[in-house]
Amino acid sequence: MNTKELINTVNAMLAGSKGLLAMDESTPTCNKRFEEVGIPQTEEYRRAYREMIVTTPGLGDCISGAILYDETIHQSTRNGTPFIDILKQAGIIPGIKVDEGTTDLPGSPGEKMTNGLDGLPARLNKYYTLGARFAKWRAVIAIGPHIPTDECIETNMHDLATYAAMCQRAGLVPIVEPEVLMDGPHDLKKCFDVTEKVLNVLFEKLRGQNVDLHAVILKPNMVLPGLSCPRQAGIDTVAEATITCLLQSVPAEVPGIVFLSGGQSPELATAHLNAMHVKYEDRLPWALTFSFARAIQKPALEIWKGKDENVAVAQQMLRHRACLDDAARRGEYTPEMEKTA
Ligand code: 13P
Repeated sequence: MNTKELINTVNAMLAGSKGLLAMDESTPTCNKRFEEVGIPQTEEYRRAYREMIVTTPGLGDCISGAILYDETIHQSTRNGTPFIDILKQAGIIPGIKVDEGTTDLPGSPGEKMTNGLDGLPARLNKYYTLGARFAKWRAVIAIGPHIPTDECIETNMHDLATYAAMCQRAGLVPIVEPEVLMDGPHDLKKCFDVTEKVLNVLFEKLRGQNVDLHAVILKPNMVLPGLSCPRQAGIDTVAEATITCLLQSVPAEVPGIVFLSGGQSPELATAHLNAMHVKYEDRLPWALTFSFARAIQKPALEIWKGKDENVAVAQQMLRHRACLDDAARRGEYTPEMEKTA
């Protein structure tokens, strides 16, 4: 294992006040997002959309790494430049989603497990050769009347740790993403308790598989009430619950935590990250930043609509959102900044 190379990648991913852009939607998920705004669901439209993203002027000022999907990592701009090269020229490290989506967890209705461990070492070597320097694997944990079960948490965290160990051996920094979903009427306390338990099991499994915690990045959910919970929480309450939960469960040797947005609006995801820095900056042992997909991309996708003439304005919006998140990592975001795209 080349620890020095892994640590160099980690440092570059967490540099300054930048964060990561998740643009690794699987084909079905990307098609779903396109359908919502009336864009044809074809490979060429997906390529054109990703070209719009990676060629955004100045994106590298706020984004240190971009997570790609298998289809995207092989694609090029219309004039034939591979996306990987465009990203590298912009100072953005290419990463790759390597899980193969979820399936039902046998014997446990409503729960999922993540596929993709079969043949993973060979795929990781291939992605490294293509230029990727980090990877991502997402496990999903749903909250419901009798879930999550211990078995669901054990299975998913075990697989995340196995993936992480394989990544480090292949020279790729593993992003471990145990996402506690926002769907449902559960309250903030329930999300806190489940997230804390999931993270404790995750770090036990990572240690059990001799994963070097100095070369792992955690991608968790923020601690939030469920989307249909009648009692929603204020920004400072979410910031406090999230930081308290993470301080209790994430070892200090982990270099960085990068949040998913999980269905929050872009404005709220940014405001929550900002509040965590404003109130707790001096207590944080790890870098704390963003790895949003929807919370960065959604406004730009809605402007782009699949049309060439909208590319420049969509790119402006994409960069604007990324810069607001960069400001939030410094605790310098204000809602007034939303107006100056
Ligand atoms: P969202 O920010 O849209 O939740 O996506 C992050 C991600 O990478 C999901 O796997």
